[in-house]
Amino acid sequence: MSPPVPAGVARPQPDVAGIDDLDLLDPALHAANDLTPVWRWLRAHDPVRRHERFWSVTRHADVLRVVRDPAAFTSLQGNMLRTLLRGHDPGAGRMLVVTDGPRHTRLRRLLTPGFGPRTLGPVTRSITTATRELLGALVRRGGGDFVAEVAAQVPLRAICELLGVPERDRRRVLELTGDAMLGEGDTHEQGGTSPGTRADGGGGGAAGPGRRTGAGGGTGSAGNAGGVTRQARIAQSEILLYYTRLAAERRTAPGDDIVSLLVGGGLTEEEILLNCYNLIIGGDETARLAMAGGLLALATYGEQWARLRADPALIAPAVEEILRWTTPAAHVGRTATRDTELAGRKVAAGDVVALWTVSANRDETVFDAPDRFDVGRTPNRHLTFGYGPHFCLGAQLARAEIGALLAELRESVREITVTGPVTWLPSNFINGVRTLPIALE
Ligand code: HEM
Repeated sequence: MSPPVPAGVARPQPDVAGIDDLDLLDPALHAANDLTPVWRWLRAHDPVRRHERFWSVTRHADVLRVVRDPAAFTSLQGNMLRTLLRGHDPGAGRMLVVTDGPRHTRLRRLLTPGFGPRTLGPVTRSITTATRELLGALVRRGGGDFVAEVAAQVPLRAICELLGVPERDRRRVLELTGDAMLGEGDTHEQGGTSPGTRADGGGGGAAGPGRRTGAGGGTGSAGNAGGVTRQARIAQSEILLYYTRLAAERRTAPGDDIVSLLVGGGLTEEEILLNCYNLIIGGDETARLAMAGGLLALATYGEQWARLRADPALIAPAVEEILRWTTPAAHVGRTATRDTELAGRKVAAGDVVALWTVSANRDETVFDAPDRFDVGRTPNRHLTFGYGPHFCLGAQLARAEIGALLAELRESVREITVTGPVTWLPSNFINGVRTLPIALE
């Protein structure tokens, strides 16, 4: 048995007796509640559940069945409920994660070398340095908001390296990217927050779970409603302008980076920008939430932190367990291309299905004691990075980021204490903590 969760960390669990009244689309439901009993009930009693406008798929086996079969369940209409229910994704067919078939294969082939050892080696080294500096500063101050001061910084730096942002521009680009993300946590299910890209007004909607919210129904930046600040909007435009210039530079002087790969792949300028933005959005917040949620889990389950401190061999399984436990992409979405059957339910062509990874990762038929955080868990067949043709391209990078955090924590920290109330992101898609006040000893 795990010890009790410290005060201020646990969220209420809804009573499953009222399950018919729960609106799984409601961002506030996800922020305010721990939905563990809801997912457990659905897996046991209604694993492919019909809602008014979509299906909820909650078992590991059924999620796998859908993501393995892109011919029957396409990503082309979008890969998250918000855009799927609008019936259109502005990045469709142009941005890797919302592309299918030969076009997807071609784009993926183009991008894959950007995530290979030649690029990831140096990026991983610089992640280690950045983590050491940022965590060291936090330890010297005795603590602070781990999300803002560490978890938000490392993934952004890694992406800048991956995209080949030159050293001279990095500080400015980091500032701009940080500003561009301002306020986005509040707007996941409201207006779009992706930037418009160019003249046709196609918003940079899709990305991984990558993409943050999807643009507001395909409008350009001017049409995006929602709570993103003016400062964020300006920063988003400046970033796109920056990558337009960088792409132009790479056309004449290519390097080993992803912008050079995209430029060399015969894509239009807009496709290049969409896929750059896909990486920024896809790799930033998800990794941030895994790192922050991982630290919260270690603070919450002190006996697991003690195990990890005592045994460096546990870093690798602990990274996987943090990925399972935090599941930063709560769902991925698909659209049925033909009438089909799923766990005995008849899904019709055109139906939207939400694959709740957050539930599949706690499936008791796959994981022993699934509601226990266990840094030594092996095997660990979590679906945090998806599965099949769209399996996350940044998985190794994300693992390196979490691994560097754990290694550095083991080196320099004895005790992790949550010092104030933890707040959670209001989103049915992006799952995790918005603020995490902690003290590190
Ligand atoms: C795809 C999760 C980190 C780039 C995906 C998918 C998931 C996912 C679930 C599949 C989406 C689908 O099937 O519709 C995560 C999580 C991360 C993470 C939880 C961190 C813990 C990253 C990073 C990058 C990245 C660091 C890059 C910098 C991508 C891209 C795709 C993708 C490009 C699209 C792959 C394709 O469609 O072929 N990610 N991701 N991700 N992710 Fe990640």
